[in-house]
Amino acid sequence: MLDRRRFLGLSSLGLGSFSFSGFRSAPDIRKPIVISTWNEGIHANKAAWNVLGKGGRALDAVEQGVMVTEASQNCCVGLGANPDRDGYVTLDACIMDEYANCGSVAFLERIKHPISVARRVMEKTPHVMLVGSGAQQFAVEEGFPLEPGKLSDDAERSYRNWLKKSEYKPVVNIENGQKQTAYAPAKLENGNWNHDTIGMVAMDAAGNLSGSCTTSGMGFKMRGRLGDSPIIGAGLFVDNEIGAATATGQGEDVIRICGSHLVVELMRQGLNPEQACKKAVERIIKVKGIAKSKEIQVGFIAINKQGEYGGYCIQKGFNFAVCYADDQNFMVDGKYILS
Ligand code: GLY
Repeated sequence: MLDRRRFLGLSSLGLGSFSFSGFRSAPDIRKPIVISTWNEGIHANKAAWNVLGKGGRALDAVEQGVMVTEASQNCCVGLGANPDRDGYVTLDACIMDEYANCGSVAFLERIKHPISVARRVMEKTPHVMLVGSGAQQFAVEEGFPLEPGKLSDDAERSYRNWLKKSEYKPVVNIENGQKQTAYAPAKLENGNWNHDTIGMVAMDAAGNLSGSCTTSGMGFKMRGRLGDSPIIGAGLFVDNEIGAATATGQGEDVIRICGSHLVVELMRQGLNPEQACKKAVERIIKVKGIAKSKEIQVGFIAINKQGEYGGYCIQKGFNFAVCYADDQNFMVDGKYILS
């Protein structure tokens, strides 16, 4: 039998995958890899893969990936998204790298790429988080253009529609036979997708992890309301020794359990990404109760250092995009707990 010193020596040579029936080659680590929330993740992954596939850094990949979604006018991320109840689009985003550097912006108006401002906060200030007019001032000083504060045509229409009743509650709707919440994707009248958040986590060819998360938050929210997405540990968490996780759905419930941090810590305890995401979803249901959990949607996705990936959600309807090769960028339906 191998003594411990010899075993450690073999490990340092990358030959640590040992079984008592003999040696076998070390398991392949699937890298690079990138995953992201909802159907829009396919396009975001493609942009991320442009970086990862050329040996680029995960941090650049997760920024450039979600910028595609921020720029698109057909989902609830970026300036084309639904406004708050007072008619203003306010954006939240955060980013985290392999060194536990992180940056975040929240309640940011009239800036097209909040994820890039979050990265500047991380790289150019001694702080983690800037909000509201201060975040906007910083963005402008950094050269980000101040966009006209006009709603997109779709958002204008949705807002006018919402104003008729001005209901302020999560609305569980039925879409294509699937039960979804107002914060989960639903096909709009114009055929576009209604998303709440894109979260993305990636591992590059060097084995380093990063993540990003960006959103306009809950449609028709109270002015000033923040969800989980700009909060490190809630909407996103990266630990380069273990893995990375991000969240989508009703942010208040993700914040209550420090969701993404919880998923990473569960992976540290030995769970694979899917098991860890499932446990975090179960924690939300335990805290909230089954009846109230049926009124909301939350989904988590995660990767670990082995390049394994997984996701889980409260109820049917959540999916995520997975990419690990030029010809491997596909959707996975999130497993769910409540039906
Ligand atoms: N998960 C996005 C939000 O609640 O704002």
